[in-house]
Amino acid sequence: MRRTSVAFLLVIAAACSSDPDVTVVEPVSTETTSTDGSEPVVTDGEPVDSVGEPSTTISDGDVPAVGGRDGVGDSFYPSMGNGGYFVDDYSLNLDVDVDGNELDATATISATASEELSTFHLDLHGLEVTSVGVDGQPATFDREADELIITPAEPIASESAFEVEVDYEGTPEPIADPGVPLDSVGWQNREGTVYVASEPSGAKSWFPSNNHPSDKATFTFVITADSDLTAVANGVREDLVDNGDGTTTTTWNMSDQMTTYLAAIYVGDFELRESTTDDGLRIRNYFPPAFADDLEDDFELTADVIDFYEELFGADYPFAEYGSIVLPFSTGFALENQTISVHGLDATDPYTIAHEIMHQWAGNSVTVAQWQDIWLLEGFATYLAYMYFEDRGLNSQIEPQGMYSALRSGFSIGPAEVPIDELFGLSVYFRGGMTLHALRVDVGDDAFQEIMAVYYERNAGERASTEEFQAIVEEIAGADALDVVNSWLFGLELPPFPE
Ligand code: TRP
Ligand code: ZN
Repeated sequence: MRRTSVAFLLVIAAACSSDPDVTVVEPVSTETTSTDGSEPVVTDGEPVDSVGEPSTTISDGDVPAVGGRDGVGDSFYPSMGNGGYFVDDYSLNLDVDVDGNELDATATISATASEELSTFHLDLHGLEVTSVGVDGQPATFDREADELIITPAEPIASESAFEVEVDYEGTPEPIADPGVPLDSVGWQNREGTVYVASEPSGAKSWFPSNNHPSDKATFTFVITADSDLTAVANGVREDLVDNGDGTTTTTWNMSDQMTTYLAAIYVGDFELRESTTDDGLRIRNYFPPAFADDLEDDFELTADVIDFYEELFGADYPFAEYGSIVLPFSTGFALENQTISVHGLDATDPYTIAHEIMHQWAGNSVTVAQWQDIWLLEGFATYLAYMYFEDRGLNSQIEPQGMYSALRSGFSIGPAEVPIDELFGLSVYFRGGMTLHALRVDVGDDAFQEIMAVYYERNAGERASTEEFQAIVEEIAGADALDVVNSWLFGLELPPFPE
């Protein structure tokens, strides 16, 4: 038996908001997960419980090569990702039986070897692999834990491009991830709806990949499902073909770089509500038909939030389209899947909507190269969502005083040095958010905005690290500003409220 005691620390917006009906679904915090050892628990690595340990730094552009093997050196997730190659494109052909929760799929992966490969790994959990080919030749393969180990007929030369085709099928099983206090991440099938919420490790529940944010790629999704259902994925919908046999094939293309944890498909009963912003950006939202009118009102602020971040970062919205999909049931969360954020029916409050839009810049365009740097995603989304409401003179469900009070009554640890089970905990969201507030109070609005714009410009479409953020703060605002930032990022002591 597996015994899990997971406590959700739901930060209730009522604590800092005038609207008692609004529940902010993040951050969440876990307690310990324990097992009695009689049944394996699927995890993606060993929980790291010591604090402040030096971690392997995977900095932008120089991911350490660990050739043809497992793992890219992530301090939290040692077996996540693989060495020896980088993926250029995933083309996923997915036959989805929602009622039977069956997937019958072919993944075509175009990659480039960074060294000679006689074997290489992909990350895949469960599912039955029926055949693997490399450059059109049958390849042999092995399964070991969540690794698919492939031996091509001929070794792949260093620096050469190659194509892997994996045929697989079965019922995808969600992953128990030590970083997420939810029961599982990845593929989910509930109430006639398939959806994906993978961050950090869940992509391996539904397609083979180099499952680490240090390797981004473009994606195509070709989804065949019952014609009564709507199939949605990241990017732009390119094609919709009625197969005349009760099924429809829908093609979605994500032509910008994307990490595996943000790849998502949704298949269910959804109604499309679309609009175009003044700048010509298409917003396509998918709502459960019974709630579509109300939800259309709730998500009305989308265009204005996008405007705000375009101004703050001095850069256009990073992708071709945006939209939100709302599930027909409560989940207690929302997640920023690239160009198509997913919201539980109970997570459509304005703050959460702004938070997920914000992540399209910090999180999706600028990703972290190692999970220890998560505050660069969640601290940014927490604070910059507040700044939208502040700027527009609107009440914000999360604001600095409220965050500070919550931090004072909780256990405080620097957001840049949290242990894995606090990856999405209070410190990362609120002390990470307060780090930006303290910086802004210290340097003033203009320098703060310049720091945001430079940080974004240097990392758009790529990856950033805490070290890089520190260097930009020092470059633009000097050593004292960096000291302020560091006092919030590290250490057990909570700094005084910035004034
Ligand atoms: N990144 C999400 C947010 O917007 C939180 C999150 C992380 C999450 N992992 C998840 C939500 C898995 C659902 C499932 O803050
Ligand atoms: Zn977030």
